[in-house]
Amino acid sequence: MRKSFDIAIIGGGVIGLALACALRREKARVAVIDAAADIPPATDAAAGMLAPSFEVRDGNMADTLYAFGAQNLEMWPAFAASVEEEAGASIDFRDDGTLGVAFDDVQAGALQASIPPLAALGARAEMISGDEARRLEPALSPSVAAALLAPDDAQVDPRKLLAALRRIVAETAGPIIAARLEKAEKQNRAYGLVLSNGERLAADTLVLASGAAATAGLIEDIEPPPVAPAKGEALALAMPYGLIRRVVRAPGAYLCPKADGRLVIGATEYRGRDDLTVDDAAIAGLRRGAAAAAPATAELPEGERWAGLRPATPDAAPILGRVPRGPENVFFALGHHRNGVLLAPATAQALAREITGGAPVTDLKPFAPDRFDGGGHG
Ligand code: GLY
Repeated sequence: MRKSFDIAIIGGGVIGLALACALRREKARVAVIDAAADIPPATDAAAGMLAPSFEVRDGNMADTLYAFGAQNLEMWPAFAASVEEEAGASIDFRDDGTLGVAFDDVQAGALQASIPPLAALGARAEMISGDEARRLEPALSPSVAAALLAPDDAQVDPRKLLAALRRIVAETAGPIIAARLEKAEKQNRAYGLVLSNGERLAADTLVLASGAAATAGLIEDIEPPPVAPAKGEALALAMPYGLIRRVVRAPGAYLCPKADGRLVIGATEYRGRDDLTVDDAAIAGLRRGAAAAAPATAELPEGERWAGLRPATPDAAPILGRVPRGPENVFFALGHHRNGVLLAPATAQALAREITGGAPVTDLKPFAPDRFDGGGHG
């Protein structure tokens, strides 16, 4: 007999899993369909920066996205604490800010120019001298001339986060089924789901939280969301304790120190690329970018290199909410591009309410799936 659920979430990355946790509070019976074996979630490749000050700057959705990012950043300490408590494991949440470094006046001017728009949105950010930056981060190069300090930014270890969320979901929300969705069809009131492992399920509601994976034809009569892969490569160096203390962003790379001694260096971005090959020259470029900011990193051994696929949308903002046309009770929760980890808490909370008909906590209209109707975004 096929198993029945209230809600099937297609995707086992941070968005799908955080949503499963939030739905649990709404007492829904949930299954997560996790195709990580075929296409690893972007969360697995992420550096874990919670940094609206640096990651949300361009495009006609920048202000809206920044406000959503700031809302999420505020939710993160409580979200991290509850995940850690429930999973009984650290996710390496740290709220010690981001330092964006500049080597010359032009780069410093660009950092300086980002302060007024950030201030207008309520974000703290200040320019400091190269010497002040080196007092905060002694490993910075003498060539660092100035820096932008965004003291409210934070970071987390995405792999620890993913493991913790998986444990919580599996123990308290519903099954995580390791398979790809092959097809979903409306059958009377519920959807019938056919999975790549041969299982068949029924679910009243479907949520596509499948990141950059192709979705065309998966759900009968649903137009696929305009999400395309944006490949990124990154690496991790083995770092002596405390060499870099907080997130450092330089023109050619960002450096994210993790509690387990890894220094994650990222990342390239190629729109439209969906392969997971890692190019030696790209890794060398990231290492050069890191070494220009912190010369001692040039000597550090590489522990790991990888590629992941960010789910990019035409306006760099996520696509969240009920699908307006086609069969009812289908929701999109994808397209978080460079900010999936940051945007997970409010995405999960707001969508759980929308799906279960609870009082809205966040206005998701700016991210509605039908905003691309008629084009005009980009
Ligand atoms: N958020 C960092 C990145 O996408 O590379």
